Amino acid sequence: MSSFVLLVSFFFYFLNNFSEGKFACHPNDRNALLQIKSHFINNASTFSNWVPNTECCYWSNVGCDEDGRVVILVVNDADDVVGQLSPAIGDLRYLQALRFWNLPNLTGPIPSTIGKLTKLLILDINNNSMSGPIPKELGRLKKLEQLFITSNKFSGYIPPDLSRLSNLVYLHLFGNKLTGSIPASFGSFNTNLSLLLYDNQLSGPIPKSIGQAKLSKVSVSNNQLSGDASFLFGSDKTVLTDVSLRNNKFKFDFSNVDLPQGLRNLDIAHNMIYGSLPKRLGQLPLQSIDVSYNKLCGKIPTGRRLKTFSPSFFAHNKCLCGAPLPPCK
Ligand SMILES: *[C@@H]1O[C@H](CO)[C@@H](O)[C@H](O)[C@H]1NC(C)=O
Ligand SMILES: *[C@@H]1O[C@H](CO)[C@@H](O)[C@H](O)[C@H]1NC(C)=O
Ligand SMILES: *[C@@H]1O[C@H](CO)[C@@H](O)[C@H](O)[C@H]1NC(C)=O
Ligand SMILES: *[C@@H]1O[C@H](CO)[C@@H](O)[C@H](O)[C@H]1NC(C)=O
Repeated sequence: MSSFVLLVSFFFYFLNNFSEGKFACHPNDRNALLQIKSHFINNASTFSNWVPNTECCYWSNVGCDEDGRVVILVVNDADDVVGQLSPAIGDLRYLQALRFWNLPNLTGPIPSTIGKLTKLLILDINNNSMSGPIPKELGRLKKLEQLFITSNKFSGYIPPDLSRLSNLVYLHLFGNKLTGSIPASFGSFNTNLSLLLYDNQLSGPIPKSIGQAKLSKVSVSNNQLSGDASFLFGSDKTVLTDVSLRNNKFKFDFSNVDLPQGLRNLDIAHNMIYGSLPKRLGQLPLQSIDVSYNKLCGKIPTGRRLKTFSPSFFAHNKCLCGAPLPPCK
């Protein structure tokens, strides 16, 4: 069952049972929630009905299963949540979905106790002011399908431990201050992975192992990555639709890169990529392309779509020519 269906069914279960009073909040979970509330430094109205000795399954932002265990915690769009996330989060052992997003005053690290939440399917920490490292303990959350740690101020390396999460469909770490290289342990672990690492400070080459992962989308734009990235492509990459390498220091020959049939959006602009554009590019039903600011040369392949894009997406290369650029000499 997909995690989305699971979540929706939980919400309906929650709504259906609310009026019948079937829940009995587990005391361990209630205590953990109260600790989380009191760890924040102000008395947030967001948690105003989180009151001791009341039924915690009816508290706002919380969803329970039929045993009264807290399985969902979603806190979003509140600027009265001020301070840091309590390590007591790790005591909500039955959590399946944890989301904290659009909380501008949520600061500090992700507690390493997060590694105790082994039933978690979705972890979504997006657009807050959190910082510190990405905890390696996340590698223990074997059931995780969706990992979003995005648009915060997280720093340090991407823990290699994340490659143990073989059920991931989304690994999104964009919009942070992550440094170092992409771990060599990544790859071959997933059947349909959206890997978005853009807007960080990653460097070094992309490990070849990533070429074995079944990626659906990959964006590493706006980093300082270098070397060859041609192995990301290949006609065997049957689920790959989007590739963005934009604004890095990649340097490889594009001429003989074997482009997958499903490719829809390709952005390799602002690198040092050389050679010519692969012939096959002319046959793909692309929705967008940008190969500008590289060292490409030769005739732009003819075919169904390329000539309809703006010339600016092909500009500033060594000697590309042909529609939509001026004819070759
Ligand atoms: C927190 O706010 C609630 C009302 O939302 C109030 O009843 C309670 O006394 C406040 N607690 C503190 C410590 O200020
Ligand atoms: C919370 O964030 C808002 C910005 O959305 C800011 O104006 C406000 O001062 C912050 N509150 C505290 C207590 O830091
Ligand atoms: C991020 O959160 C802020 C409030 O803190 C909000 O104004 C902004 O629209 C959010 N950004 C996105 C992309 O949702
Ligand atoms: C792969 O995942 C994407 C979401 O990133 C989804 O839209 C797509 O349908 C999935 N494809 C397959 C073949 O499962």
